[in-house]
Amino acid sequence: MKKVLVTGGAGFIGSHTVVELHEAGYTPVIVDNFCNSHPDVLDGIATILGHSPIHHNIDCTDEQAMRGVFAKEGPFVGVIHFAAFKAVGASVNDPLSYYRNNVHATEILLRIMSELDCTNLVFSSSCTVYGQPKQLPVTEQTAFQHANSPYGYTKQVCERIIQDVVAAPSSATSAVLLRYFNPIGAHPSGAIGELPIGVPENLIPYITQTAAGKRKEIVIFGDDYETSDGTCVRDYIHVVDLAKAHVAALHWLTGKSNVCDSFNLGTGEGNTVKEVIDTFVEATGTQVPHRIGDRRPGDVEKIWASATKAQEELGWKTTLSLKTALIDAWNWQQKLEEQ
Ligand code: UD1
Repeated sequence: MKKVLVTGGAGFIGSHTVVELHEAGYTPVIVDNFCNSHPDVLDGIATILGHSPIHHNIDCTDEQAMRGVFAKEGPFVGVIHFAAFKAVGASVNDPLSYYRNNVHATEILLRIMSELDCTNLVFSSSCTVYGQPKQLPVTEQTAFQHANSPYGYTKQVCERIIQDVVAAPSSATSAVLLRYFNPIGAHPSGAIGELPIGVPENLIPYITQTAAGKRKEIVIFGDDYETSDGTCVRDYIHVVDLAKAHVAALHWLTGKSNVCDSFNLGTGEGNTVKEVIDTFVEATGTQVPHRIGDRRPGDVEKIWASATKAQEELGWKTTLSLKTALIDAWNWQQKLEEQ
């Protein structure tokens, strides 16, 4: 049995990755304390898998409890580390929670992995490490800019910690740093998707909740940027495509020792906020009331990926369109409304 430890496996990207790991013949073992997810996600995963996934309700900063999971479930052929906070604004208000949950948990995980000769780590990083890049598209060689938020800084720091651990003379650890652009969409089955707690911070759940009538309107954060229609540009990637990249990363790590490399995970194309809303309306036939508001502090103007390296080295590329992602997100929102 090829077991993979998936921290944060009940989260948005984690849950979709658990499904893809299962499809690829792995046995995922989820560690998640539901601090930013919901236990119902496990039922959704079970609907797709045909059985309940293995799950431990544990905080990744609890070193003893984490050691217990390795003792009970190990050995693991790899660890995929998603568990982290991800709200840019919240990180500004409460930086210490971000350093504890994102950085300290990663350090604990690396220590346990080193001690137990568990050598393959896939780390959930973000395009936020690039800040506002000077050149587009962003390649993996693009220099990091000053992190705009504690959240962004935790991703830069964790990448550096992992690189240092791999480079240590006695180390056997290998790692892949996956820099996600903007993950959106939901599983085509409608059994799992993004489940924001409270008012959504991210664009797509805000669009689908507004379309469903749960929110009055969506505010577009600024239309005076240097872009085609004045609104910000992002590289939106379907979460199922993104999940499959984690399986590709595990395959890439197999048989390699003491390597660390980073990969951008995006489509290679950018869309403005207005284009996303227009595509949603066109694809679903559902209106999204919106108005232009002020710029959101900390937003970068435009960013999209060069996805060439992931294609050449991981043998992975995106296959699902923005339109498909928006239809799947809408399907998921409608399932939520029925509950
Ligand atoms: C950012 C990070 C991303 C990180 C994510 C975590 C960058 C470039 N991206 O995503 O790596 O994983 O935070 O949450 O740093 N928008 C509106 N109205 C809304 C909501 C959003 O206009 O109500 C706009 C934003 O201004 C932005 C776009 O929609 O231009 C996407 O925003 P969002 O979904 O929050 O993601 P990012 O901020 O790009």
